[in-house]
Parts: sequence; structure tokens; C-alpha cells
Amino acid sequence: MHITLAPMEGVVDHLMRDMLTQVGGFDLCVTEFVRIVDQLMPKRVFHRICPELNNQGFTPNGVPVKVQLLGQHADWLAENAFRAVELGSHGIDLNFGCPAKTVNKSKGGAILLREPETIYNIVSAVRQAVPKEHTVSAKMRLGFDDTSLAISNAQAIADAGANSLVIHARTKVDGYKPPAYWDWIAKIKQHVDIPIIANGEIWNEQDAVNCQQQSDCENIMLGRGALAMPNLAQVIKNTELAMPWEQVKALLVRYSGYELFGDKGKYYPNRVKQWLGYLSRQYPEAEALFMGIRALKSADEILQQIQS
Ligand SMILES: Cc1cc2nc3c(=O)[nH]c(=O)nc-3n(C[C@H](O)[C@H](O)[C@H](O)COP(=O)(O)O)c2cc1C
Repeated sequence: MHITLAPMEGVVDHLMRDMLTQVGGFDLCVTEFVRIVDQLMPKRVFHRICPELNNQGFTPNGVPVKVQLLGQHADWLAENAFRAVELGSHGIDLNFGCPAKTVNKSKGGAILLREPETIYNIVSAVRQAVPKEHTVSAKMRLGFDDTSLAISNAQAIADAGANSLVIHARTKVDGYKPPAYWDWIAKIKQHVDIPIIANGEIWNEQDAVNCQQQSDCENIMLGRGALAMPNLAQVIKNTELAMPWEQVKALLVRYSGYELFGDKGKYYPNRVKQWLGYLSRQYPEAEALFMGIRALKSADEILQQIQS
């Protein structure tokens, strides 16, 4: 089984990728998306989103990282895709799942699921631009408003030459509301012959088994579940027990060190609160800690509470 750590804007940055891949069980990471509008992005933008490019595109623990692009213009996406792999990205992932409609008059993400032809053109242009030894993948939801174009979109992605496809088994309108419709992935799978990775609503080992059975996919992607239980990939792959709270607390302390001394210091209070929000799902202690730091704004005070 192959497990990918999901791209999560504002949450899974290189520090989180480093920590979660050290905990283990992940075979691949995908970055937060780089929004492409109408230009070739400067190299520094790719390095900011994916500092692992300075390490030949690997996390410190040796897990490959793939840059994700979001946008509507096939040519600009293609040029930027070429740049990203040239800089060391392990292939390219294309985002057809982001819920935002338009940003700065630029479309991208799930809204394109209304236009299978545009999706075909984008994937095709990117596939042609990126050297063959690098994979091009796409990540889609089941649709924007409904599932009526789910199969057409997946076929467009496959016909355009993508090497694999991640399916987050919900429409944009479904948002993040449970359930994820894993059986829809199996339906789509009957119509496309590229490898499919199932995603959405996997929080524990049993969810993973159910998802694999219902989606007919061996390979999965984990997002929020991996933040709620940092060793979820190991729990699923190697039947480890959920990490005890004391170990999670040690990770929180480590994360605090990373965030404070890394380039994200100013975001630290919000980031750690956000992570505690996810951890609360699995650990009652996280909820108590969250209540304790909720009103705190200073990193030092927050760290003291975590360590107390
Ligand atoms: C805060 C947040 C940020 C996300 N950012 C991205 C992103 O940048 N690119 C993307 O393709 N999906 C993004 N997603 C979607 C996740 O990758 C994933 O598909 C979704 O959370 C469902 O999987 P899960 O139930 O395992 O979390 C984001 C989700 C969340 C909650």
C-alpha cells in the first residue's frame, strides 16, 4: 500500500511534512498549491512553497515531494510545471479540487470540474511540457455542484496522459461534510485505466479498510486524519497503536521549535491552535490544551502551557 500525505494549504508546510514523514508511513508528499495566473513564477516562489527543492525534492527523511499547481491557463501551467521539475520537484500535481471560485479573476481548482475540456487541455499541455521521467498527476473532487461530470473529468485527465489521479470523494458543494462517497471512486475506476488514489474522511485503520474496499483502491491519501493522529499512516500500514498523548505533546514542542525558529514564527500561535483543533478529534487532552491557550497570543506563553 502506498500512502500520500495530502496537500493542505496553510497547514501542511515543509515543517509539518518533515515531522509527519519522520513519524513515518508516508511514501510521497504533495505541497500546498502554487497559484498560476499569467506568468512564469520566480524560482523563489517554488522554493518558498517547497524548501525541499534544496534537498533534491526530498524531505530530510528521504520522502519525495511533488509540487502542486493550481490555475486555468494551460500554457502558463505547462511552463511553470517545467520549471518546478527542473528545480527538483518529483513530478507535478494539478489541483482540480480547491473550493474557491475565482481569485483575482483567475479560475482554478474545483470550478474547472464544470469544464472537462479545459481539464483535458491543461493536463495535456502539462504532460507535454514535463519530461517523461517525471509523473504528472491530478487531484479532483467528484464534481462542483454534483457528480454528473465525475466520469468525464476523470476520463479527460486519463486521456490527456496523466500518470495517476487522486479522487477526493466529495463534490465542492459537499465541502468537508461527511461522508466521503468512496463507492464513487470505484465507479470512476471502471472507466479509466490509470492508477487511482482514494482520499477523504480516513481517520483510523477501519476507515482505511472501508475506503479501500468501497473504492476498490489500494492506495490512499491522508489529510486531516494525519493531523489528528500523527502516526495514522503507521497505524494503517503497520497496525501500530495510536501514538500516546505524551508523544504527541513532544511533537507539539518540536513543532513549536520549528515554527518559532523557522520562517513562520509570526504564524505560530494560529498554526498550533489549528493543529490542536485537529488533534482534539483524537485526543481529549488536546481539547483541554486548546482551551488553555485559546486566548493566548504570545508564542512563549503558548509553549509554556504545552510544556506544563
Ligand atoms: C485546510 C485545508 C487545506 C487544503 N489545501 C489543499 C491544497 O492546497 N490542495 C489540494 O489539492 N487540496 C487541499 N485540501 C484538500 C485535502 O488535500 C484533502 O483532499 C481533503 O482534506 C480530504 O481529505 P481528508 O479527509 O483526509 O482530510 C485542503 C484541505 C484542508 C482542510
